[in-house]
Amino acid sequence: MGIGKNKPEGHADGAGVTPADAAPLPNPKPQSQIPALRLAVLASGRGSNLQALLDARRDGLPLEFVLVASDKADAPALRRAEAAGIATLALDPAAYPDRAAFDADLFARVAAHAPDLVVLAGFMRVIDAAALAPWAGRIINIHPSLLPKYRGLRTHERALAAGDAVHGASVHYVSAKLDGGPVIAQAEIPVQAGDTPAMLAERLLVQEHRLLTATVALIAAGRIALVDDGVRLDGARLAAPLRLDADGRLAGA
Ligand code: GRF
Repeated sequence: MGIGKNKPEGHADGAGVTPADAAPLPNPKPQSQIPALRLAVLASGRGSNLQALLDARRDGLPLEFVLVASDKADAPALRRAEAAGIATLALDPAAYPDRAAFDADLFARVAAHAPDLVVLAGFMRVIDAAALAPWAGRIINIHPSLLPKYRGLRTHERALAAGDAVHGASVHYVSAKLDGGPVIAQAEIPVQAGDTPAMLAERLLVQEHRLLTATVALIAAGRIALVDDGVRLDGARLAAPLRLDADGRLAGA
């Protein structure tokens, strides 16, 4: 993951040291003994960010996917989850009297799986404040802009129309305000001459995957928390969002 402190103690650091001259490791914690972060992922479509998290788990990130849920029964994200043997849920908003009723039922079902963290990964709905309230500090979203710029839709098109030299993506805690909660981390890409919205989206998506997995890795390591509406890293309030560097590390972490 490129996050040094997420490495289990006593794992790679002892490489090249023979047992005879190795000092006893203080409290060694093999990755298998780090409790896995229980994740529920909500997605409306393709699910490439979900896939990035699945790939990170395959590569050793301590995650346990307890549920993948969608508001679209035909979302490819659900097929990815099924292929990975993860419980899925599809609920049709049209079957509910209003948004509040849908969100109340969706989040009651999510809660039944007792996730530590809910990840909105391309979940294309604004969530009712009452349904969100119990999840404060335990629900994050990935959004394809450098928030607070370009909340909502068509972010790539809007960045181009504004003549921005730099575009990017943000992972933030979810609040009742659209794309409005405290930002944890961001990834930037340069806008290039001749870029179309589709070209920007394609290049940014690669960075989104790295950004989301790196951020979830920090949360799994217990290093990130939302306190009094501010993001803390290792207990210290972040003055600005963490930045993804060229190696996929979150600078400042
Ligand atoms: C991503 O661009 C994400 O930032 C946005 O919706 C898109 C979802 O893509 N919220 P995918 O379904 O994860 O492939």
